Amino acid sequence: MPKTQKKEIIQTPKGTHDVLHGDIRYLNKIIEKAQEIAEFYGFLPIKTPHLEHAELFARPLGETSEVVEKQMYTLRTRGGDLLVLRPEGTAPIVRAYHQNGMISWPQPVKLYYEGAFFRHENPQKGRFREFRQFGLEILGDDDAVLDAQVIKIMYLTLAELKLKNLIIRINSIGDKNCRPSYKKELANYYKRKFNYLCKDCKRRFKDNPMRMLACKEKSCIELKAQAPQIIEQLCEACKTHFKSVLEFLDEGQIPYLLDHQLVRGFDYYGRTVFEIFMEEDKKETISEKTENQAKELNKKEEPAAQIALGGGGRYDELSTIMGGRKVPAVGWSLGLERIIHEMKKMALPSEASPKPSVFLIHIGPAAKRRAFNLMEDMRKSGI
Ligand code: HAM
Repeated sequence: MPKTQKKEIIQTPKGTHDVLHGDIRYLNKIIEKAQEIAEFYGFLPIKTPHLEHAELFARPLGETSEVVEKQMYTLRTRGGDLLVLRPEGTAPIVRAYHQNGMISWPQPVKLYYEGAFFRHENPQKGRFREFRQFGLEILGDDDAVLDAQVIKIMYLTLAELKLKNLIIRINSIGDKNCRPSYKKELANYYKRKFNYLCKDCKRRFKDNPMRMLACKEKSCIELKAQAPQIIEQLCEACKTHFKSVLEFLDEGQIPYLLDHQLVRGFDYYGRTVFEIFMEEDKKETISEKTENQAKELNKKEEPAAQIALGGGGRYDELSTIMGGRKVPAVGWSLGLERIIHEMKKMALPSEASPKPSVFLIHIGPAAKRRAFNLMEDMRKSGI
């Protein structure tokens, strides 16, 4: 007789996982803190759908961005629409801003959101296919103080959760006036190194050479070290804006490192870009730094392998790329799984679980019947 085959229980798809109560307590704590600070600074909550039209992301993020090229979960509906599981939250927020007439609200409009995002990545440390972000965006104003304000909120949220050794890396990638000439110079540089580029970068070369600066291939990282830097070619307006952002950060005693090699992975960014990290083996903690101690990264020093807890920047052109009026904006999002991981590693407390004060025991069928309603009677009486 053939042996009966043991049926395997179906597992979660690769890169996704169940979130059990322990992690949910951490999740709640992080969201509560982020929400408390965001609400204090006048941000309003918003929820956008998990499904959006694919074209919402293609141009704004960049046709050759890692996310659009390889990581979007797309589906064709029965009606023929091409939809995607949202890979990020900023393009949907700009869509929602226009769709809901926020352009006629008093400006700037400040919004915050939390939820799941989806990217078909190769699962590895801190990288999942379904992950959660908390994010906030300020739309309708290009004042440098707002760049500093969002950075301050990002820093405070993590610092008040008691995460240590926080480092904000910051750069300016210029705007549509100064970036084209920089791109040309960068293209000239990479043209001479073309044979050493990875397969993807050879393709990116034609579309947007700045994309190559975000490539994670070892050979491309090495080439990046010698590449020309945008900071030297910023126009006067971008220089003044960036200087002002840094002055506000100094004023708020928010420590940062200038990282002139930092570019972000999406096309919608312009001017300020930033990411926040925890530096593992850094002896001097960020909170020990004082104002005006912002240091230029030593270019020879290889930064330790780090995973960004969050990132963001200014995106003044995104609304126009999407076909709307110009709406200058700035924002960020934090990766919640990565923060949970760090909090657990540091044995930081999560949200407290409620402790039961009554344990109901019944003996015999009559008591079992009585107990069936007794617990609810106690709940109603506030026990
Ligand atoms: P992002 O850098 O792609 O930016 O993502 C922000 C953060 O989300 C990352 O720093 C990381 O912590 C987390 N994250 C990203 N991908 C994954 C993943 N596969 N698994 C786990 N965590 C991940 C954005 O998404 C922009 N929308 C941020 C922004 C808001 N820019 C302006 N406003």
